[in-house]
Amino acid sequence: MLEVKNICRSFDSFVALDQISLKIEAGEFFTLLGPSGCGKTTLLRMIAGFDQPDSGEILLDGKNILKLAPEKRPIHTIFQNYALFPHMTVEQNIAFPLRMAGCAPQEIKTRVTKALEDVRLPDKGQSYPAQLSGGQKQRVAIARALVNHPRLLLLDEPLSALDAKLREQMQLELINLQKEIGITFVYVTHDQGEALALSHRVAVMNNGAVVQVEEPSRLYGFPNSRFVANFIGQCNLLAGEVLSIQKDRVTVELDGLGQIQTLLPHGVEIQPGQACTLTLRPEKTRISATLTPETDEVHFKGVVHDMLYLGDVTVYKVELENGKVVDTLLANSAPGRARFFEVDDPVEIAWRFDAGHLVLS
Ligand SMILES: Nc1ncnc2c1ncn2[C@@H]1O[C@H](COP(=O)(O)OP(=O)(O)OP(=O)(O)O)[C@@H](O)[C@H]1O
Ligand SMILES: [Mg+2]
Repeated sequence: MLEVKNICRSFDSFVALDQISLKIEAGEFFTLLGPSGCGKTTLLRMIAGFDQPDSGEILLDGKNILKLAPEKRPIHTIFQNYALFPHMTVEQNIAFPLRMAGCAPQEIKTRVTKALEDVRLPDKGQSYPAQLSGGQKQRVAIARALVNHPRLLLLDEPLSALDAKLREQMQLELINLQKEIGITFVYVTHDQGEALALSHRVAVMNNGAVVQVEEPSRLYGFPNSRFVANFIGQCNLLAGEVLSIQKDRVTVELDGLGQIQTLLPHGVEIQPGQACTLTLRPEKTRISATLTPETDEVHFKGVVHDMLYLGDVTVYKVELENGKVVDTLLANSAPGRARFFEVDDPVEIAWRFDAGHLVLS
């Protein structure tokens, strides 16, 4: 439905967007995720029409929209603070874009009522924004966006000002609302947890470029680079070199860890001699005082170097005999147990040959 083709944008000599291409499907919850300054807002502004690219095209339903003024695009943007008018009631806020467009009063009334029902706030029309909870304000902002029947809703970090508990609540609200309304969402965040929780697909951006586009579980499980592995969740990055390739496996020499076997990643051209990194999630490792490695497991001895108690889980930083430190993770699920090991405890760790994911860059 929305196609971004080779978009470039520079500010003086600084390249903010470098050949961005994306295809977004109708009805999709699509997220742009990346560190601060990577160009997310800049891209959103081009889609909305608040800024023009130096080169490239943006197509909506196959038509180039770059020549259209923002208000002529069937697109609505919701910003971080929702930008509700404090001196207007909820109804007046929602009616505002329709009044600007010169709609007839009866038409405005019908559409506002419908929008309030869509966001499940039928009784709040006479309230002022200050009388609403954060979640209700978000829904009013979405209702105001919906009255014009946009094809596309752009949301730029709408939850970033909220505390963790409320955020989670609002995330669930957003997922359900998007499902019910069926409008395509392009959502911007620098919070990887939020991106994974909300999205059908995520585009990871870095330094003005899109580096990977995937469904959340594939992004987490099969990052295509050290950057993505490290940016999404916790990850061990074990550098090394490709030695040889067998049927579905690669033998690699990892710095300080010696030769191990790992799963051959799909869709990557791998040659012996190439530098590589094994990305290994802490929860994919086993840690125990002593353990007997199973077939297809690699196995190391070490001592607990440090630990991070996070409540539900504890991250143990295990220093192996060769000095390498590997993060492992244990759920604190046994009754009455807060921690299984102390600093300096000898431990053993193991992981299956297919626990990690090999990347070349
Ligand atoms: N009008 C402008 N003039 C000059 N530089 C700009 C302008 N707009 C953006 N930039 C620069 O382009 C880069 C990308 O900015 P952008 O606002 O798109 O980042 P972002 O990914 O949205 O970051 P954040 O997560 O902090 O909101 C930044 O380095 C920023 O300083
Ligand atoms: Mg931004």
